[in-house]
Amino acid sequence: MSFSAAVVTVSDRAASGERRDESGDTLERMLLEAGAASVSRAVVPDEREQIASVLRQYCTGNRADIVITTGGTGLAPRDVTPEATRDVIEREAPGFAEAVRMGSLQVTARAMLSRAVSGICASTLIINFPGSPMACRESFDRVRPVLGHAVELLSGARVECAR
Ligand code: MTE
Repeated sequence: MSFSAAVVTVSDRAASGERRDESGDTLERMLLEAGAASVSRAVVPDEREQIASVLRQYCTGNRADIVITTGGTGLAPRDVTPEATRDVIEREAPGFAEAVRMGSLQVTARAMLSRAVSGICASTLIINFPGSPMACRESFDRVRPVLGHAVELLSGARVECAR
């Protein structure tokens, strides 16, 4: 199933131009390979209001079916991506963040340092990923098999949930 996607990179250094947005590049490539018809991109600093604002844009006006954020999910004082995501979502969809954390724990115990969340705003699914390209790859592998079906369900279409 084809879908539209957006990648929101949350990073002070990428937003200031100090660092290249490699995680965003990695996610864009994987989303296209997974069947995304388009991938919009945004880079914002670790500021709760700015993160929430760009997420709202992707849920309403310039909407995407799936938004993946990368970065800002950890324990550092400026890590506020989960809080910004909670500001925006109307319904929780915790399974995506749970699957990412569970799968990632098999690769690194540090996966427990990510406070990532996932949920729905209007008919857009938002999923938080950690910040590094490797973490993005490991996280995406976990959710990739379900993305198409998730988009079908979000559209309100009558779909078979048979496995
Ligand atoms: N998950 C996976 N799959 N791979 C990783 O390397 N790194 C962890 C964790 N989750 C990691 C991971 C680390 S070290 C941190 S601090 C947290 O994600 C939060 O990262 P973030 O603040 O960049 O979002």
